[in-house]
Amino acid sequence: MIIDPWSSATYQDYARLRDEFGIEEFDDSLWKDLPKPHKLLRRGIVFGHRDFQLIKDSIQNNKPWAILTGLMPSGKMHLGHKMVIDEVIYYQSLGADIFIAVADLESYGTRGYSLEETKKLALDEYILNYIALGLKPEKCRIYYQSTNQDVKDLTFILGKKVNWSQMIATYGFNGSTNMTHIMSPLIQTGDILHVQLEKYGGVKPVLVPVGVDQDPHIRLSRDIAQSHRIFNVTKTKDGRIGVFVKIEDNIIKLLDKAEITLKKLQFQKLKRITEYKAIYIEDANENDIQKINMEFARIEPSLGGYGFIQPSSTYHRFMTGLTGEKMSSSKPESAIFLTDTPKEADKKIKQAKTGGAISLEKQKNEGGKPDQCVVYELFLYHLIEDDKELQNIYLSCKKGEKMCGNCKKYASELMGKKLENLNKQRKTAQNNFNSYL
Ligand code: TRP
Ligand code: SF4
Repeated sequence: MIIDPWSSATYQDYARLRDEFGIEEFDDSLWKDLPKPHKLLRRGIVFGHRDFQLIKDSIQNNKPWAILTGLMPSGKMHLGHKMVIDEVIYYQSLGADIFIAVADLESYGTRGYSLEETKKLALDEYILNYIALGLKPEKCRIYYQSTNQDVKDLTFILGKKVNWSQMIATYGFNGSTNMTHIMSPLIQTGDILHVQLEKYGGVKPVLVPVGVDQDPHIRLSRDIAQSHRIFNVTKTKDGRIGVFVKIEDNIIKLLDKAEITLKKLQFQKLKRITEYKAIYIEDANENDIQKINMEFARIEPSLGGYGFIQPSSTYHRFMTGLTGEKMSSSKPESAIFLTDTPKEADKKIKQAKTGGAISLEKQKNEGGKPDQCVVYELFLYHLIEDDKELQNIYLSCKKGEKMCGNCKKYASELMGKKLENLNKQRKTAQNNFNSYL
């Protein structure tokens, strides 16, 4: 199976995705102890992750970390697009440094939009809504791919460790794929990794919250990060913990430095084997790997490397479109746009596909199916904060106590209020936002 980030396919077999691509399950233990866990985390909408424990550790121990996200605008911003930014806003409240890439180069390479069109749409439609939703722009860095020289330099430099076979296997590229498109995953890798450069605060855990369609870029970024490391900290096949030098130059000097670093970390039983370019740490165990690795990543820039920590990621489920198909900007009836009026939204909600039975009679007797209901999804993803209230809706729907007409009316009321409020917030944001880019 190949995930094509640019197709309109939906990838919904979450268990299979986890198995096939080695995505870990996002279980309760990861979010339970976070401050005021966000509803998308609490409700299993974020279903998978890679290395989220690094992020959790940074949050809980007040260590620096960052969020990197990107947007490739296509049409108007709708509720599906809102989810990532809801997550970002939550993480900003926990103290993350926020970086937002406007993917104008990718958009040009893969969709054929001009750079200018993309920038304009990104600002007027997306960034404005992000701020209206609660993102604090003065505390984040928003940039264009096309004007960020560090990202562009990395794109070129990082490409050295990726070959064509890998790109074919990951993305299904072929001889007729245009070169700009072929480059765009590397640009995204540049986005993701540049925030660990000295100039942007240095080596640190970085979380990239995405929908699962973006996972190929995450895998590529993680591979590339690892392949640019000078040291590899790992458990060997025979169960020992070791630090290995991965490059061919200055091995002696690097092993010396490694020894000093390990001693500073209070490890005493070090066994150096120069032919293997290795130091085995006999008084370390598996739980120490993360800490040791982080320390080695931090010293790498002073030794001529990058020290990139592999980026972490989370994956959220996609909302169903209101019509029951995919939610898409090009099908206005399938999506509620953040700029819709309450009246427009009401009309779409009235026509939405529910999990109700074919007759009221039948629904009273057999109950509705909230798990297959788009209106319920609106509550779950966007409209209801209180978990108890949500559960009551769920249960009374299942028991046949709730009918779709009333239920839609309630959804529409809540949505109307949200949209009105958002409209106000947009106006405030508009007044002072041109200074941010
Ligand atoms: N490829 C993303 C999209 O299609 C946009 C994007 C660009 C991005 N750079 C990124 C997403 C970095 C996450 C991280 O929407
Ligand atoms: Fe959906 Fe509400 Fe109807 Fe249940 S009652 S199927 S939740 S619209």
